[in-house]
Amino acid sequence: MSASYNLKICSFFVILAVARGGLNPVVLIPGDGGSQVEAKLNKSASVHYICEKTTSDFFNIWLNMELLVPLVIDCWIDNIKLIYDNATRTTRNNDGVEIRIPGFGGTETVEWLDPSHASAGAYFNSIAKTLVSLGHERNKTMKGAPYDFRKAPNENQQFFTDLKALIEQTYTENNNQPVIIIAHSMGGPMSLFFLNQQTQDWKDKYIRSLVTLSGAWGGSMKAVKVYAIGDDLGSYVLRESVMREEQITSPSLAWLLPSKLFWKPDEVLVQTSRKNFSLNNLEEFFQAINFPNGWEMRKDTEKYQLDYRPPGVEVHCLYGVGVDTVERLFYKPGTWLDGYPTLINGDGDGTVNRRSLEGCLHWESLQKQKVYSKQLPKVDHMQILNNKDVLSYIANLINDV
Ligand SMILES: *[C@@H]1O[C@H](CO)[C@@H](O)[C@H](O)[C@H]1NC(C)=O
Ligand SMILES: *[C@@H]1O[C@H](CO)[C@@H](O)[C@H](O)[C@H]1NC(C)=O
Ligand SMILES: *[C@@H]1O[C@H](CO)[C@@H](O)[C@H](O)[C@H]1NC(C)=O
Ligand SMILES: *[C@@H]1O[C@H](CO)[C@@H](O)[C@H](O)[C@H]1NC(C)=O
Repeated sequence: MSASYNLKICSFFVILAVARGGLNPVVLIPGDGGSQVEAKLNKSASVHYICEKTTSDFFNIWLNMELLVPLVIDCWIDNIKLIYDNATRTTRNNDGVEIRIPGFGGTETVEWLDPSHASAGAYFNSIAKTLVSLGHERNKTMKGAPYDFRKAPNENQQFFTDLKALIEQTYTENNNQPVIIIAHSMGGPMSLFFLNQQTQDWKDKYIRSLVTLSGAWGGSMKAVKVYAIGDDLGSYVLRESVMREEQITSPSLAWLLPSKLFWKPDEVLVQTSRKNFSLNNLEEFFQAINFPNGWEMRKDTEKYQLDYRPPGVEVHCLYGVGVDTVERLFYKPGTWLDGYPTLINGDGDGTVNRRSLEGCLHWESLQKQKVYSKQLPKVDHMQILNNKDVLSYIANLINDV
C-alpha cells in the first residue's frame, strides 16, 4: 500500500471520527528518563570548584548533554542524585537542590527531553507528529503526563492523583470521549499500577484503551547490570561507571529489577567462580557491591511489581524482539564483582528481556477486555518510538472509532 493511499484513507477516517463526536483524546506517559527535569540550586557546598552552588531560577538538568561532559558531570550527579533514608523509606533531593518536572498536561516536555529540540532528545515527538497529522491538537486532544522517573510508585502518589484529574479533564474537554493512554517502557507498569487503583466503572467510563510500547512488565536484567557497572545510555561520550553513581540512587531502578513472577528464584543472574547470585540471594549481591540501600529500595518497591492484576481495559501491547539483551553477568574465573563482566545476552529489545516485554500476554485469559499484541522484530527499546509500523498501528487505532 502506498504512502499516499494510506494518507487518503486516514483523512477519510478523520472526517468520520469528527462526524461521530471527535477523536479519542490521548495521554502520553513516558518511561524512565522520558521527560524533562528542572533544578534550582541553593547549596552551601559543592563537589568541585567549577560547580555552581546557587542559581536564580530553575534550569534544565535532564536532558542536557552540556552537563554530562567530564568534570561538569560531577556537579550534575551531585544535583540530580537522590538521598535514601532507610528509616522513612523515602528519598529526598540533595541538600540545597530543588527538582521539578515541568510541563504536566502539555506534550512539549515528553516530546523533547532537551528543550533545544536536539534530535538526540526526541522522545514522543514522532508519535505526536503522527497524531497531529490525523487531526489531533497538542495540549487539547493530546496531553503529556510526565513524573519524577527517579522514583517508584510508592513515592509518586501525587502523580497518580494528578493523572486521574488530567484524564477526567481531558475526557470532559473532548465531548466525553474516553482517553487512549500511550505509555513507553516504565510508563507501562506506571499505567498498570494507576489503572489497578481505579474502579472498573471509572475505567469503563474514562479509558478507551491502553497502548504500551516496550512495557517493562516484569523488570529487566539491565537493572542488575546498572547496579553492577552502570550504563552509558548508548552514548560514546559517557562513562558507565560515572553514570552509575547517579543511576543507583533511583528507587525506580530497584522497582525494575527482575520480577519473581518472570524469573525463577534460583536462576543465575550474576555468575562468578566463587559465588552465583540469583533472586534467592539478591540481598547478598547488594552487600557484595557495597550498596545495601539497593536492597532496602527493592524491599520498598517489590510489592508494586508483584501486583500483576490485569488492567481491566483494552490493551495494545507492542514490543521489539530479536535484539541482544543482557540475560546474565559473567565474571571470569578469578575475578570478582569489582572486575568487568562479560554480558551474556538473550532475547529482548536491547534493554528489556523478552519474557518481561511479553508480560502483557498473561492478561489475555484474565480479563474480558481484549488484549492485542504485536511483536516487532529487531526494533529496539527506543526505536519503537519512531518505528513506522508502530506509527501506522497507532494511526489505525485512533481512526478505528
Ligand atoms: C539559601 O539557603 C540559605 C541557608 O542555607 C538561606 O539562608 C537562604 O535564604 C536561601 N536562599 C534562597 C534564595 O532560598
Ligand atoms: C540504615 O542505615 C544505617 C546507617 O547507614 C545503618 O546503620 C542501618 O543498618 C540501616 N538499617 C537498615 C534496616 O538497613
Ligand atoms: C502546551 O502547553 C505547554 C505548557 O504546558 C506549552 O509550553 C506549549 O507551548 C503548549 N503547546 C501548544 C502547541 O499549545
Ligand atoms: C554458578 O552457576 C553456573 C551456571 O549455572 C554453574 O555451572 C556453577 O557451578 C555455579 N557456581 C557456583 C559457585 O555455584
